[in-house]
Amino acid sequence: MKKDLGVLQAVYPMPVLMIATYDEDGKVDVMNAAWGNICASDKIALFISEPHKTTKNIRKLKAFTVSIADQSHMDVADFFGIASGNDMEDKFERTGYTAVKSDKVNAPVIDEFPLVMECELAEIVETEHLHAVVGKIVNVAADEAVLDENGKVDPARLNALAFDNFQSGYYVLGGKAGQAWNAGKGIM
Ligand SMILES: Cc1cc2nc3c(=O)[nH]c(=O)nc-3n(C[C@H](O)[C@H](O)[C@H](O)COP(=O)(O)O)c2cc1C
Repeated sequence: MKKDLGVLQAVYPMPVLMIATYDEDGKVDVMNAAWGNICASDKIALFISEPHKTTKNIRKLKAFTVSIADQSHMDVADFFGIASGNDMEDKFERTGYTAVKSDKVNAPVIDEFPLVMECELAEIVETEHLHAVVGKIVNVAADEAVLDENGKVDPARLNALAFDNFQSGYYVLGGKAGQAWNAGKGIM
């Protein structure tokens, strides 16, 4: 028997995405975003609020990168979600992290995070129920340490953080449970 919990954002896991941008003076900002996901084969949708420094930067520079935060960088990833570049001049510098300009888009790549999507702004969708920043992914780059012997990203090596919206926890997922588009074949 299930117990009613009311209206909740009951999706788990949510990603822990690091959105990195430049402002008009070339200053780096990074924010934490869990409300976001792939929305087409080469597009990512980020549900980020208008007042963030990040959103302002994206509107001006029309580019950003999205990194996957991993377990060993959790503290800084969280910091990027509780401090704002709007009122902390040295938000990025405080972390001691390294940013290098992407050679694909006008946005910084943060060295410490293991995987990055380099994005051009495709559109900002604003409707009654939606405020989405949509990026066109023009390249993905990953540290060799998270690739398997075939050059594919290995989730077991990535150690990506997952956000739990029920209790605001960060988790790392366990091992592989099965193969998609395959586990159900026996019932066909
Ligand atoms: C775990 C976590 C997830 C977050 N996800 C989002 C999100 O998806 N959308 C959003 O607008 N803000 C989100 N935030 C809040 C922003 O990261 C936060 O307001 C940040 O200070 C914005 O930084 P900026 O002003 O430098 O861009 C999240 C914060 C945390 C800690």
